[in-house]
Amino acid sequence: MMASKISTSIQIDTVNFASRLIAWQKMHGRSGLPWQGIRDPYLIWVSEIMLQQTQVTTVIERYGQFLRRFPSLEKLAAASLDEVLAEWSGLGYYTRARNMHRCAILLLNEYGGLFPEDPKVLESLPGIGRSTAGAIAAFAYAKKTPILDANVKRVLSRVYGVQGDLQSKKKLDELWDLAKKVLPKNARSMPIYTQAFMDFGATWCTTRQPVCLMAKKTCPFISSCFAFKNQQVHDLPQKKQKKASPEFYADMAMIFYENSVLLVKRPPDSIWGGLWCLPESPWIPYETTAEATAKATVKVSKMKRRVISQMLKNIFSAEELDSLTSSAQEFQMGISLQHIFSHRRLHIQTWRIDLKELPKLNDRKLIWAPLAQLDSFGLPQPIKLLLREIAT
Ligand code: ADE
Repeated sequence: MMASKISTSIQIDTVNFASRLIAWQKMHGRSGLPWQGIRDPYLIWVSEIMLQQTQVTTVIERYGQFLRRFPSLEKLAAASLDEVLAEWSGLGYYTRARNMHRCAILLLNEYGGLFPEDPKVLESLPGIGRSTAGAIAAFAYAKKTPILDANVKRVLSRVYGVQGDLQSKKKLDELWDLAKKVLPKNARSMPIYTQAFMDFGATWCTTRQPVCLMAKKTCPFISSCFAFKNQQVHDLPQKKQKKASPEFYADMAMIFYENSVLLVKRPPDSIWGGLWCLPESPWIPYETTAEATAKATVKVSKMKRRVISQMLKNIFSAEELDSLTSSAQEFQMGISLQHIFSHRRLHIQTWRIDLKELPKLNDRKLIWAPLAQLDSFGLPQPIKLLLREIAT
């Protein structure tokens, strides 16, 4: 029997791993998810990208909707980036949508509209990392190629006792090697095996409540799992030291004229790049401004010019600002809310400005968006929520 030597010096069987996982999938794996059992690489690619940073329950809702709008690679490539971003709205991590659009165009122009079968070539495409390339190649073409997402890392580190910081290059190489070693012998098993690995990590070998520590179910690896035998299930994979998320504050202007709101297109390389947003002040560290905001509540009128100019000076000329300020009928402190990103928190204070006449604006990246048509604009989630509140 072949065995692999892992850093712990424990010899563990890597031969039976795949067959146990596949048997587990048949009994306990998830079934009926809309992207399962599919061999079409376009449909697989869309699901893999959506599932990267979005929960399965949300993807179940949005996957079908996305495919109805863009049923093929050709339709996606032919759409404008604005349309794709609007369809992606609310899913976050918009780089995924931008890369999908770029990738669709590239595939159409340079690959005859076909997804390559070679995982190395797949990996060279925009937005497709090594693990996603492995998943597409395994699901669509039954290629014997591994995946290594967070679930797979957790399972491998527990079963084979991979200690240390899994982000390090050395440990990642070790995990990729291990992931290759445990692949099934038969390439035909690759789709079910790959799905099994994802599902097992997501539902049984979970971070907080792995089934081996619960009374009712028996893990297929219980007899050989390093972490279980050594009572290290909760210690593996080793946790990263979390840094406190930095907090920021920004004023945002909700400028209304009749039934439209003024939106600004964000630069492509910024946070929420390419999406439509409210005019805003620079983001500044939060502590220093909580007090300033409190003061603003009682001194709104005095704050008016400062807040307006802070929010608007980067997008309007002095002349436009004057025109805007003088046509402002009302200026009120609006809703405030917090938005949590993966590694930062933004406190938003809105300021409502109702214009009595249309100010002179030199086009650039500005648009008057009718409140009744906000769904057709790619808006970041908090902006969508804020405007929905007003529009309904
Ligand atoms: N996460 C990424 N891809 C997945 C898939 N195909 N099934 C379930 N979860 C996933």
